[in-house]
Amino acid sequence: MSAVTTVETPETVRAQVIAWRRHLHQHPELSFHEHNTSQFVADTLAAIGGLEITRPTPTSVMARLIGGAGPGPVLAMRADMDALPILEANTHEFVSQSPGVMHACGHDGHTSMLLGAVKVLVAQRDALRGEVRFLFQHAEELYPGGATQMIAAGVLDGVDLVIGAHLWLSLPFGQVATRTGALMASLNTFRITIQGEGGHAAIPQQTVDPIVIAAQVVTNLQHIVARNIDPLKSAVISVTQINGGTTTNVIPGVVELAGTVRTFDAKLRERIPVLMERLVAGVTAAHGARYQWTFEPGYDAVTNDAAANDLVRRAVVRALGESTLIDATPTMGAEDFSAYQQHVPGAFFFIGARNEARGIVHPHHHERFDLDERALDHGTRIFVAAAHEHLGIGDAR
Ligand code: NI
Repeated sequence: MSAVTTVETPETVRAQVIAWRRHLHQHPELSFHEHNTSQFVADTLAAIGGLEITRPTPTSVMARLIGGAGPGPVLAMRADMDALPILEANTHEFVSQSPGVMHACGHDGHTSMLLGAVKVLVAQRDALRGEVRFLFQHAEELYPGGATQMIAAGVLDGVDLVIGAHLWLSLPFGQVATRTGALMASLNTFRITIQGEGGHAAIPQQTVDPIVIAAQVVTNLQHIVARNIDPLKSAVISVTQINGGTTTNVIPGVVELAGTVRTFDAKLRERIPVLMERLVAGVTAAHGARYQWTFEPGYDAVTNDAAANDLVRRAVVRALGESTLIDATPTMGAEDFSAYQQHVPGAFFFIGARNEARGIVHPHHHERFDLDERALDHGTRIFVAAAHEHLGIGDAR
């Protein structure tokens, strides 16, 4: 396709962005399996024209827009593309056509609003100084995540700032939330096996009952957050699985526990598993049981760089006005956008997509999750404005 001849603006691409989102919503794909999604994105980018398009991994896409006004900064913008293993319960006309797979986190919106920004910015290429690099990332929802794979493939080479957004159902449409510093928590998984001695439920003195010990472990783990951690710092320890036992008259030999640890603080992230294992070791030893312990660190905390966050703030004000911008409340949710921030300064932000009046209130990962689609236009505008702010296009829109 030839390069763009018409002048695109957020207004002219708005309907297209919604159509893209609905197409993606109808055809969701799970993490690491975004074959059709990434092909759709690559084809759409090729049709827009004026880009250098590559496939860093089999199901991701990178597009480089080299400005025509000479060398300058390199700003990366990231959208994730994967869906979740959820059976959609919505009944709108663009409901998922893949039963059991659903865009229940809004990544369909992320992809389409960034495509909208591509279309607008390509039309302004001659006036741009530097490069805008668009990262269409696979597999945000499933550890180890797509971001680390894309980074290993070199997508950040030469990049000096990276930004990314999440459409956010905790925020009403019309608000955009940013924050310097901690925004989203690190994700960590633990597994505990308590090895006792099984036997007859009526003769407990001949057993080492792992169920009673597991109950104490669960209760005592909460002691760590309540008593061992600075009350001004945040941490969550949640036991989310307990498995043990098969019937009512047998004390089992083994109980397995698993759960998650979330925190913003890197030092706490190192200290909490030490405290947890000490506690598990102590409780099990006190009752004559043994244990196995594993702790797997997952995504790092999303921590926003001050300069990158300032760029986002200026972009929001430029695109939508001062009244839109609010200070973000940190969340214990996790995001692999943090992987980019380990390499270059970056900022992640939340775009309000909730609409109480229209019943668009269901949380992320819910079977009835939906978006106020007007928020897509906000995303497109902010990404365009960020490029203008960072690459210095002056007052052109
Ligand atoms: Ni998400």
